Amino acid sequence: ELQAIIFDLDGVITDTAEYHYLAWKQLGEDVGVPFTREFNEELKGVSRMDSLEKILALGNKHNDFTADEKMSLAEKKNEHYVSLIQNISPTDILPKIEELIADIKKMGLKLGLASVSKNALAVMSSLGLKEQFDVIVDAATIKKGKPDPEIFLRAAELLNVDPKACIGIEDAAAGVDSIKGAGMFAVGVGSEQSLSKADIVYASTSELSLEKIIEVYNKIK
Ligand code: BG6
Ligand code: MG
Repeated sequence: ELQAIIFDLDGVITDTAEYHYLAWKQLGEDVGVPFTREFNEELKGVSRMDSLEKILALGNKHNDFTADEKMSLAEKKNEHYVSLIQNISPTDILPKIEELIADIKKMGLKLGLASVSKNALAVMSSLGLKEQFDVIVDAATIKKGKPDPEIFLRAAELLNVDPKACIGIEDAAAGVDSIKGAGMFAVGVGSEQSLSKADIVYASTSELSLEKIIEVYNKIK
């Protein structure tokens, strides 16, 4: 029996995935590693330092910087990202998300957030959604980021529910791996191609339907 829905934040609840992309793209150009949107799919859902390592590895530059220099590069990207999220407000919540949250509550299901972003709490407050969630697991409380299942497992544990009774919603391939690794049902939001491991994929949040998701969940379980 389904008990909880656990959301990713960036790219699912609001389009901050685009801001992460713009900030990393700039940083990549600064260090001489320009990259495509296709490569950016590999960065989605991945922690700040792991993202930087992936970009440097792409340009074969992972040995060109000291640990301190890498820290300042990551810091620089974050300052840019923070400037881009300055004016975020409830109007930036993606289509259907508020309806989905209302439906989840109406059904008596628990609501969780699993984001590896250190900016997650700030973004959730700006969106006016922080209080709605029963649990928020962010970068501060976990050891391993996505694709490791730790973050989704922790959310289930704090919600006091069996992972098998949870549905996770993600826009990132690393996030879908994390959900599936936790033994949960995965809803992907984005391209079928990059989210092929999800149990059901929607092109955008405007197509999300709790009724449909639960129907598929019940069929698979
Ligand atoms: C994830 C994003 O939610 O958080 C990634 O999908 C980002 O793109 C990661 O790198 C870490 O975010 P932050 O805010 O801690 O740099
Ligand atoms: Mg995401």
